Amino acid sequence: MFNKRVKIKELLTQEPQGQEVTVMGWVRSFRNSQFIALNDGSTNNNLQIVAELGKFDEQLLKRVTTSASLKVTGAVVPSLGKGQKMDLKATTIEVLGDSDAEKYPLQPKKHSLEFLREIAHLRFRTNTFGSVFRVRHSLAYAIHKFFNDKGFVHMHTPIITASDAEGAGEMFRVTTLPFNNPPRNEDGSINFKEDFFGRATNLTVSGQLEGELGATAYGDIYTFGPTFRAENSNTTRHLAEFWMIEPEMAFYDLEDNMNLAEEFIKYIIQYAMDNNREDLEFLSQRLAEEEKQLPQDKRSEMGLIEKLEFVLKNNFERLTYTEAIDILKESNHNKKKKFQYPVTGWGMDLQSEHERYLVERHFKKPVILSGYPKEIKAFYMRQNDDGKTVAAMDILAPGIGEIVGGSQREERLEKLEARMKEMNIPAEELWWYLDTRRFGTVPHAGFGLGFERMVQFITGMTNIRDVIAFPRTPKSAEF
Ligand code: 4AD
Ligand code: MG
Repeated sequence: MFNKRVKIKELLTQEPQGQEVTVMGWVRSFRNSQFIALNDGSTNNNLQIVAELGKFDEQLLKRVTTSASLKVTGAVVPSLGKGQKMDLKATTIEVLGDSDAEKYPLQPKKHSLEFLREIAHLRFRTNTFGSVFRVRHSLAYAIHKFFNDKGFVHMHTPIITASDAEGAGEMFRVTTLPFNNPPRNEDGSINFKEDFFGRATNLTVSGQLEGELGATAYGDIYTFGPTFRAENSNTTRHLAEFWMIEPEMAFYDLEDNMNLAEEFIKYIIQYAMDNNREDLEFLSQRLAEEEKQLPQDKRSEMGLIEKLEFVLKNNFERLTYTEAIDILKESNHNKKKKFQYPVTGWGMDLQSEHERYLVERHFKKPVILSGYPKEIKAFYMRQNDDGKTVAAMDILAPGIGEIVGGSQREERLEKLEARMKEMNIPAEELWWYLDTRRFGTVPHAGFGLGFERMVQFITGMTNIRDVIAFPRTPKSAEF
């Protein structure tokens, strides 16, 4: 059988006792015509393969170049060298795929993250991205496990929709109409009746509205899918295509919602700590190295692992938007005019610098803010009795800012319809959404966790482009 191989991660847990194994992978380096460092992606640790001098054909050894792929069979023996507990003493070496090391873009030296982004198709073969994407995988698994163990139903909500769930108008249009000469209505506007779906459609910005339909039948659901935002934000925290986890729960109020979100975040951090220790330790060291280049006051106070442990041990700080505005307003930072966007007062939308001030400088831990002014939040949020605020909550994380956005939903039909009217949300198009409020409406709540922001938080990667395989950002859709 071709694929009877052992993965290097698994092999490295065994004791070297002369057992015969076959491994396959890619050459990281070949020294002294004798020692091959082989990596198969299961771990950052390479397996040292010893090709005894004189035992192998010269022509074959010439083909053992950095990034060539090999199939090697041999005996696992205790290593004589330092740095590894075992060697694979090769009996046969087969080159599965040659590689011209001169032309291979990844040279055995340190490359910048910016450079690696340009060769994103190969960057998985570096230690940093090896670790990042193994952790990403693990977190995705943990998320399904968390909700499955709690009896939530995983819902696949549509990617092509006709509605704007957030009402923010930041959508990518989906159409098969010709660009040069689209069919037009008498008034000159484009006639979408002629389009593929017989109406204007776009890529979804959120699965929430459909999620609510599920929650009002199953009780508890969650979605985990790609979402798309055509917002022209060129930052280290925004993608045009990102993955979002959106649980939606019937019979939940805002406090239940916060409790679930905090438990959920801690669970997936704990899962990574328990199952990805080696990769997290590598990433922790990487981050410490990276931060050495920063001035002292820009460095993190805690190492990556220490930070994650701290988050696990401490309760998230909970306060209202109104309290947060007071803190920001009274801060020396504001008085000394150090915010790029001055804190004007109640009603303003918080910028990421404000959010980060609260978590990084003031509370020094994750914060859950609630009770936002209705003007800066979406139409579906439950209106509070004060007539000014809604039952919204955002979770802010150190180094990231907003990581979760959620709310209790407006379950009262008249209130919801009135708010939609005020905000110019077309109620006729959302007739199906409003039906949940007509037929057995219940208090319910939910939130959205930005998966990439969570991966950033756990891996310590500063740029969101480095935690998704092939980032889509303004003016960039390579690969
Ligand atoms: O706050 P948002 O826009 O909330 C919603 O979409 C709600 N429908 C969620 C819900 O209640 N079911 O987005 C939720 C989260 C943000 O907190 C952020 O972590 C992430 O999604 N997010 C982005 N991540 C990367 N790039 C972007 N452009 C993002 N926009 C939002
Ligand atoms: Mg938000």
